[in-house]
Amino acid sequence: MWLNIDSFEEYKEVYEHSVENPEEFWDHEAGTFYWRKRWDKTHSGSFKDGDIKWFEGGKLNITENCLDRHLNTIGNKTAFIFEPNHPDSFRRTITYRQLHEDVCRFANVLESKGIEKGDRVAIYMAMTPELMIAALACARIGAVHSIVFAGFSAQSLAERIQDCDAKMLITNDGLRRGEKHVPLKDISDEALEDCPSVNKVIVCQRTNRDIDWVEGRDEWWHLLIRNASKEHEAVEMDAEDPLFILYTSGSTGKPKGQVHTCGGYMVYTSYTFRNVFQVEEEDIYWCTADAGWITGHSYILYGPLLNGASSIIFEGTPTYPDPGRLWEVCDKYNVTHFYTSPTAIRALMKEDIEYVNKYDLSSLKVLGSVGEPINEEAWHWYHDHIGNGQCPIVDTWWQTETGGIMISPLAGVTPTKPGFATLPLPGIQPALMDKNGKEIEGNGVQGNLVIKHPWPGVTRGIWGNQERYRETYFEDYPGFYFTGDGCRRDEDGYYRITGRVDDVLNVSGHRLGTAEIENAIDEHPKVVEAAIVGYPHDVKGEGIFAFMTCDDGVSKPETFKKEIHDLVSKIISPIAKPDKIQIVEGLPKTRSGKIMRRILRNVAAGETDDMGDTSTLLDPTVVDEIIAGKAY
Ligand code: WT7
Repeated sequence: MWLNIDSFEEYKEVYEHSVENPEEFWDHEAGTFYWRKRWDKTHSGSFKDGDIKWFEGGKLNITENCLDRHLNTIGNKTAFIFEPNHPDSFRRTITYRQLHEDVCRFANVLESKGIEKGDRVAIYMAMTPELMIAALACARIGAVHSIVFAGFSAQSLAERIQDCDAKMLITNDGLRRGEKHVPLKDISDEALEDCPSVNKVIVCQRTNRDIDWVEGRDEWWHLLIRNASKEHEAVEMDAEDPLFILYTSGSTGKPKGQVHTCGGYMVYTSYTFRNVFQVEEEDIYWCTADAGWITGHSYILYGPLLNGASSIIFEGTPTYPDPGRLWEVCDKYNVTHFYTSPTAIRALMKEDIEYVNKYDLSSLKVLGSVGEPINEEAWHWYHDHIGNGQCPIVDTWWQTETGGIMISPLAGVTPTKPGFATLPLPGIQPALMDKNGKEIEGNGVQGNLVIKHPWPGVTRGIWGNQERYRETYFEDYPGFYFTGDGCRRDEDGYYRITGRVDDVLNVSGHRLGTAEIENAIDEHPKVVEAAIVGYPHDVKGEGIFAFMTCDDGVSKPETFKKEIHDLVSKIISPIAKPDKIQIVEGLPKTRSGKIMRRILRNVAAGETDDMGDTSTLLDPTVVDEIIAGKAY
């Protein structure tokens, strides 16, 4: 492992240097990796044109940096510890050497099935080591992986496969998450009915339930790897070749396939992992995220492996078999670094404290939080009861688009403040903007969060749609990357993220577009038009409130709500089900036909005393009707 920043003074110096001379700074970082050929140009392109490049001309393979490079030094060190859904099921550890062999084997399998550099491969799997092996094997042969969260529906999976024309799908027969069983292969079969690009499906055994089989298309993972060689020469990639695509929701339209590249993403995730968490040689690191989200990509898969860390892959849920599960796992493996979401903390702090006290958590050194704003109550509970008042909390702000952590304390280095992501990482220049697109200078201010200078981990595009990429991130504030978040900078210059300022919801740390949910609900034969807003929810952070107009009334609202739930689960995922629905006579629309969401947000939050200016509404009387209405 390489040197970390280890004092606040040093952070300030490094930060200063990184801002004055970003190229020299990143040049130096990139120099710590193994490149087949050094890059010609450190950085080019700008946010003005949306044509960012880093380490152009550099040749590498990220898996050589995750695996091969470690074989002579830490080959026998644990790379992954696998903790299954049920604590009594088979668990195992995998060393760097074994992981290297497994990845090589599967890389050979992929090539033997005709997958080539540049091809897209969809991965729809349980949280097991095989998911990681599948992704790394893709990276090793230069195929672009697109991991789809195994909680998404057949329709969502199909949409993602179609968008990038994936040639292959890798899945499991099924998975268990808590008490639930998810028939992944059945869902895949349904999705593939509309995906002519896929001609091979590799199925990895997990639940051993009966599944349908398509001869000639489907093949068993375990049979394929049996005779595959454990040696494989990694394919040479250009720094700017795509490494993976990950779909995420925006305020409009269908999910966007964010494209991350081999060189910049590697340098950025590795640097941020090392400095934010300050993981040392003997430590056991655990990030509870799912690999279907960016947190899993950057801080279970790539960041830890690039740094030679030992980390846990957890298949289960925080409450199964009981709400002590996370603490049981921390105790069992002497976890030193624990990284989870505010939603998990809020859910677990409601439970009997005995579920925590039963376990020995004295191995913990660093706690992390990610995905949503952490409220002060949750921060303190986490700090006092899990960290025993001893562990720094790193509240890490970042996004799918940023590739890695952007604003966060460095563990043990940056003085923390509850609810604050604190200060930008070296190389990151945040700024706050007012409504007129002017930068707000000074401290004790609030505005829309943008980033000034490109960093190596930033998304290079939206798959197949560079125009949409430019419109989404670079049009609102020309020359800057717009995050979509609101933010406060306090008197000390510390950053506190206040939440999305666009029509994106953050429900239990899951990012959902209001338009997507509205489109799903509109499919119900009774629904004329739906409008979705978020409202404060004490566990999920944000709840989903659906207002809708319906044809000829609804006599049984409870049954109707269930129909809406089924529909949304089928079209998107159970994570997008509205918490509350309200049927209204009319939606508050302006004369130009735009829904005034501000009104609906107020009603959903129960804040109806001051509804602000409603004079631009086509029919202001709908407001009183909505306030008087009943939600289910
Ligand atoms: C959105 C990005 C970061 C990886 C997981 C989510 C919100 C994320 C924080 C934080 C307050 C946060 C933002 C951001 N968010 N981390 N520490 N404090 N808000 O990635 O699905 O792309 O969502 O999550 O609103 O824009 P994502």
